[in-house]
Amino acid sequence: MDIQWYPGHMTKTIRQMQEDIKLVDLVIEVLDARIPVSSRNPDIDALAAGKARLLVLNKADLADERENTRWVRYYKEQGITAVLTDARNRGSVKNLMPAITEACREKTERDRARGMKERPIRTMIAGIPNVGKSTFINSFSGKAMTKTGNKPGVTRGKQWIRLGGRVELLDTPGLLWPKFEDKTVGENLALIGSINDQILDEGELALVLIRRLREGYPGKLALRYKIEETDTDLSCLEEIGRKRGCLRKGGEIDYGRAASILLDEYRSGVLGRISLETAPDKVITIAKDPQES
Ligand code: G4P
Repeated sequence: MDIQWYPGHMTKTIRQMQEDIKLVDLVIEVLDARIPVSSRNPDIDALAAGKARLLVLNKADLADERENTRWVRYYKEQGITAVLTDARNRGSVKNLMPAITEACREKTERDRARGMKERPIRTMIAGIPNVGKSTFINSFSGKAMTKTGNKPGVTRGKQWIRLGGRVELLDTPGLLWPKFEDKTVGENLALIGSINDQILDEGELALVLIRRLREGYPGKLALRYKIEETDTDLSCLEEIGRKRGCLRKGGEIDYGRAASILLDEYRSGVLGRISLETAPDKVITIAKDPQES
């Protein structure tokens, strides 16, 4: 399955983001906890160079708890703070405050040492579509949200949301686009629903999901659909269709409908908490060659 997908308005959005990033101290990159690698845009490193960074593994409620813990540890070993959230839950998002303060500690201390007046930490939320950026901003701001309009030195029209005097959030999330040369990355993004279904063949995608579930979560399909998992991926889809009454006239299986049911049930979490990417067991750090530089 080849996924070809090129959004036309990418350049304009990136340019806007380059401008916005100049105004902030901290970039919070929101990822989908089910695919923490595939939902990352590699351009963010260049875009956010020199800024404090924080990773949010959102939709953690849909991802495998064991993998969630492993991913947080994996990033910690690399010196990156990653926080698990369910952006729809205000309590979960509020837990982020200490991590924000910590991520900006160096800058705050530097400012203080220079005798600069302490000001709120300016923050931007960035990430690819559908990872939960807007939900996150809404939960974060909640009722206490106060919009502070134009201020000197800030581009006209920018809206800042003040959070308890300590943090200011740019209310427009920085929109990045998924990037993939690797087929698996494209598949992962399609499986979580980040890429428009209309440009993908749902049937093929459902077969990919069946394969991945049988490998990573044996027994899940059998439990949910009361089918045998032992045969081919196609026969599993056929069985799911039969069990769910996806039949055409003449009793033929409607594979499209069966695929659609399966994908919906995965995306909404009905199938259970399932991660599509597993954290590497060990962080491999390549020692710098002393001959270099
Ligand atoms: P975006 O700005 O990054 O594009 O994403 P957005 O906030 O619009 O969220 C995309 C979808 O993901 C929304 O569902 C939202 O409710 C859901 N969502 C966001 N964060 C979480 C989370 O942590 N856990 C779960 N389970 N879902 C989350 P939707 O169906 O498109 O809209 P709605 O029906 O919820 O309004």
